[in-house]
Amino acid sequence: MLERLERLPTDPILGLMAAFRADQDPRKVDLGVGVYRDEHGNTPIVAAVRRAEQAVLARQTTKSYVAAAGNPGFNQAMQRLVLGEGHPALADDRVRTIQAPGGCGALRLGAELIRIAAPQSVVHVSTPTWANHIPLLSGSGLRLERYPYYDAASGDVQFASLVEHFERLPARSVVLLHASCHNPTGADLSEAQWRTLLELVKRRSLLPFIDIAYQGLGRGPAEDAFGIRLFCAELPEVAVAVSCSKNFGLYRERTGCLHVSLDSTRAADAALSQLVRIARSLYSMPPDHGAAIVLEILGDAGLREQWQDEVTGMRKRIAELRQSLVSSLARTCPARDFRFIARQRGLFSFLGVTTSQVHALRERHIYMTDDSRINVAGLRADNLEYFAQSVASVLQG
Ligand SMILES: Cc1ncc(COP(=O)(O)O)c(C=O)c1O
Repeated sequence: MLERLERLPTDPILGLMAAFRADQDPRKVDLGVGVYRDEHGNTPIVAAVRRAEQAVLARQTTKSYVAAAGNPGFNQAMQRLVLGEGHPALADDRVRTIQAPGGCGALRLGAELIRIAAPQSVVHVSTPTWANHIPLLSGSGLRLERYPYYDAASGDVQFASLVEHFERLPARSVVLLHASCHNPTGADLSEAQWRTLLELVKRRSLLPFIDIAYQGLGRGPAEDAFGIRLFCAELPEVAVAVSCSKNFGLYRERTGCLHVSLDSTRAADAALSQLVRIARSLYSMPPDHGAAIVLEILGDAGLREQWQDEVTGMRKRIAELRQSLVSSLARTCPARDFRFIARQRGLFSFLGVTTSQVHALRERHIYMTDDSRINVAGLRADNLEYFAQSVASVLQG
């Protein structure tokens, strides 16, 4: 029976990774894969994670199951990390959390929950959005549509078009928003824009589903969660998918959670009971290790401070690289304005070159996806100039 299956084409990002690995040129630059890299081009284990991991392993006495909802201590700590201490929705006891296998797991759990509540729901995602949002959300059976988001000419959010689009959505439409560090564009909503959206979402009875995968890597831990904190305080229903992959560097440990902030304890409890059933039907229990590490860090003042310092280091490095890149490109490509890169946040920006120019850059051993998305953290002091000169040469044709 399975012999008849057709072979699928290789995922473009995996193909790009393989091509990069096979490239023997010492000048090669990987701007494709979406992981943080340090000034040596590595993705090291966060030092606070290593210390917490040792403490967790030393104390652990069993590998027995945890629970379908995951580790309750982790779930609570993640509520406070994302919503902030003393958030009104927490004080009102109307937030419930389920641990998930990464932000991807959380996105899928949220989509499954919405499908059970309202199977005809349509999820509206930004143009463009992270490629994996599409299979993760539509795999639940929900229909997906697009809303305008990125203005390639300015490198900013096309906010007027977004608002106009949201104004026309039927009540109970689901809108998927990126909390910060928008993937793939780096263009984020300002606090004023979040406030405008709040009013609109409330008036039009839309359901916000917010994805936060880079808390701390944009403007700061509280700033990056601004929209979530505002929406959960002011709206009766918000779903939040959280990833610990980037800010804790726990990628392969598959660590994250889904928060649902509803308008009563009763509604939140009911939603959690549904989520537990969904998790049981998909994978039964989430992996424990990463969540135990995060709980150890967030529950220990010393580890927490060390981790916060490390996140600050990542954030500063990304911001400095953005500035340096703009300066280098201003020198090598004076006819073109790349200043938008310094206005954007997080790992990603669109360089804004054509696919054939992306391929010409690949000839020069510089790897990025065909849409010209770059992972800024893939740049270093010793490859920045080579990159800026290569961009100039492909732009000149
Ligand atoms: C926008 C966005 N959401 C969610 C995720 C989920 O990541 P993970 O499942 O590895 O935690 C990512 C990872 O790249 C992302 O970029």
